[in-house]
Amino acid sequence: MAIRLGDTAPDFTADTTEGTISFHEYLGDGWGILFSHPKDFTPVCTTELGAFAKAKPEFDKRNTKLIGLSVDDVTSHGSWAGDIAETQGTALNFPLIGDEDRKVATLYDMIHPNADDTLTVRSVFIIGPDKKVKLTLTYPASTGRNVDEIIRVLDSLQLSSQYSVATPVNWREGDDVIVGVGLSDEEATQKFPKGFTTLKPYLRLTPQPNK
Ligand code: BEZ
Repeated sequence: MAIRLGDTAPDFTADTTEGTISFHEYLGDGWGILFSHPKDFTPVCTTELGAFAKAKPEFDKRNTKLIGLSVDDVTSHGSWAGDIAETQGTALNFPLIGDEDRKVATLYDMIHPNADDTLTVRSVFIIGPDKKVKLTLTYPASTGRNVDEIIRVLDSLQLSSQYSVATPVNWREGDDVIVGVGLSDEEATQKFPKGFTTLKPYLRLTPQPNK
């Protein structure tokens, strides 16, 4: 069954490159990102894992834990990690789930049989501190993900979890944001002391409130 926004992220226990992990316990009170890789020793995945590892300080700043998955076992992951370090110039610095029995891949509907009946697609799940799924992304095996976009959307999710705002197209940290449509002008005046600009009654912009 597909996992939808707002669902509780299914909990699981799995072997990883950092030992056995209980998913919800690993996430603790913070945010989390679970992402799948079709297979070990494959080129696109190798570049993605290097890029996530390099960006880990950005995820740490956002109180967000990373956990990857690939459908091989942790012994294989350990050897692959050597290749990642050698070719991408960074060590794997977050756990990678060994999912040779496809237990987690099946739980998270990461195998799309009409694309490939044994390997996972490139899934991304962003999970909030309430353990609810806040974002899902699905890419095919042939397309590497964009780590900057994942950080961008994480910033948007974290901002809108704290303030009654939404973020417009191509928004980046520091840009103006959209005043929540549920707020009256009076409420918006109170909540956004820097003021707001009304382009249409339903489209009001305000400086990013936490800047
Ligand atoms: C890759 O990561 O390059 C890849 C993985 C699975 C199938 C094809 C390519």
